[in-house]
Amino acid sequence: MAIRLGDEAPDFTAETTEGRLNFHEWKGKSWAVLFSHPRDFTPVCTTELGTLAGLKREFDSRNTKVIGLSVDAVADHQRWNDDIRDVTGHALNFPLIADPDRRIADLYDMIHPNASDTFTVRSVFVIGADNKVKLTLTYPASTGRNFQELLRVIDSLQLTAKHSVATPADWRQGEDVIIVPAVSDEDARKRFPGFVAKKPYLRVTPQPSA
Ligand code: BEZ
Repeated sequence: MAIRLGDEAPDFTAETTEGRLNFHEWKGKSWAVLFSHPRDFTPVCTTELGTLAGLKREFDSRNTKVIGLSVDAVADHQRWNDDIRDVTGHALNFPLIADPDRRIADLYDMIHPNASDTFTVRSVFVIGADNKVKLTLTYPASTGRNFQELLRVIDSLQLTAKHSVATPADWRQGEDVIIVPAVSDEDARKRFPGFVAKKPYLRVTPQPSA
């Protein structure tokens, strides 16, 4: 069954490039990005994995662990890692799950049979500290993901989890945010003094500090 926003992220135990792990134990109280890619030794996937490895510190600074998955075996992941490093300058620095029997791919609905009945699509699940799914994305095999966008979304998710605000189109860290409609004007005047009402339902305020 499809996993929806707000659902608990299903737990599993799997073999990875960093040994056998239990997902919820490995994740702990951090946020996590669980993503799938179609196959090892394929061009777009090679660029994606290296790009993500190069961004590891950005994810660390957001208290977010990264874990990948494909239907290939651990030995393939490890051989492919040399190519990833050669091409991108970044070797894997997060676990890559081996899922040859597609157990976890099925659990997370990562195989879309009308796209391919063999390989996982490019799924992304952002999972909060509470183990609930906060964001899902699905890309086809032919389109590499934009991981800067993923960082931007995590910034928004973490901000809006703490404050009664939402983020507008194309928002970036440090830019003005929107006061959610559930906050009355009276309450907004206390919590967000000086906010600007562009419309009665569109009230803008500087980004609250952490
Ligand atoms: C790729 O990563 O380049 C790729 C993988 C599967 C199908 C098409 C492209």
